[in-house]
Amino acid sequence: MKEAVLKKFEELYGDTQGVNVYFAPGRVNLIGEHTDYNGGHVFPCALTIGTYAAVRKRADKKLNFYSMNFEELGVIESSLEDLNPSDEAGWTNYPKGVMWAFAGRGMEMDCGLDMVLNGNIPNGSGLSSSASLEVLTGYVLKDLYGFEVTNIDLAKIGQYSENNFNGMNCGIMDQFASAMGKKDNAIFLDTADLSYEYAPLVLDGAKIVVTNSNVKHSLVNSAYNERRSECEKALEELQAVIDIKGLGDLTEEQFEANKSAIKDEVRVRRAKHAVYENQRTIRAVEALKKNDLKLFGELMNASHVSLRDDYAVSCEEIDVLVEEAWKIDGVIGSRITGGGFGGCTVSIVRDEAVDTFREKVGAAYQERVGKKADFYVVEIGDGPSRL
Ligand code: GLA
Repeated sequence: MKEAVLKKFEELYGDTQGVNVYFAPGRVNLIGEHTDYNGGHVFPCALTIGTYAAVRKRADKKLNFYSMNFEELGVIESSLEDLNPSDEAGWTNYPKGVMWAFAGRGMEMDCGLDMVLNGNIPNGSGLSSSASLEVLTGYVLKDLYGFEVTNIDLAKIGQYSENNFNGMNCGIMDQFASAMGKKDNAIFLDTADLSYEYAPLVLDGAKIVVTNSNVKHSLVNSAYNERRSECEKALEELQAVIDIKGLGDLTEEQFEANKSAIKDEVRVRRAKHAVYENQRTIRAVEALKKNDLKLFGELMNASHVSLRDDYAVSCEEIDVLVEEAWKIDGVIGSRITGGGFGGCTVSIVRDEAVDTFREKVGAAYQERVGKKADFYVVEIGDGPSRL
């Protein structure tokens, strides 16, 4: 990947003198879905796949962006004087948003840059290619322009720019997982106060298998933002009867005792998911610490049911992948991962069952949905770096 971006850089911008190459990872979330904007816990890990960039400062204020994943778009030109979101800017709205967010915090770039990107996260798969691009951009700015920011700042800035520049009201999980990733560890993050703990992921005799449905339904962002406002409304209603800051403050019992304050059936289900999923995540991490993979898997499965039925962010294709996975001996747990409405599932599969898993789930998916699924046995990697 490094050689490829450098080669492209030379081809587009003349030579590679003084060019640096950087990487930031994508992520997969093991459990704790749609809890991160509800003050709950999440349990993601950074992957060894992600986004690479070859970058060099320019003498003027120009910004030249090129992505090897969107070669047909060619070099997209912009400038530091034009850090505004626009439809024509396409994917460059992500790096531009981060530059804008840095500038808003008093960290203004004194000159522009030439950039070539290349990512190996399948596009639109829900493995956070956009968060990896945001964290990557932040890391480049820190390294090349000398801005003093921590990796947690990079996560916050990435989320801020995605919310305010790109109009997606995401929580902080994806950017945090990318910025704070640690090889062979998942991150147990409390989004209420950003306290976190690394949990070694020792899956004795099992692998993490990500299955790509290869579908991405439209209106993902608007449906996501809608879920988020439903939760906010439910929280307000609950706050009239109980003193809480977020849905993540509630136990299941407290929720059941107070849920009549929520005046709409749909909102009750949304809030129920947020509360129960948070508790499941806490329990799942405890189970992992005790090496109780069986319980961990059961909680993953319960997470899927809740996301499908109460939170309504699954879809037919994803449900087929999960149902077929559940049928296979050696599957410890399987669920939708990420924002939903398509994308990927995450499964924990015993080593000896991985081949059967691919074959059977792949064939059943083809048969029932008429589409091809892709399978990746993923590894947990580190956060951003200069290569
Ligand atoms: C997307 C968002 C995250 C999180 C997940 C759902 O990936 O970017 O902040 O809300 O969906 O868990």
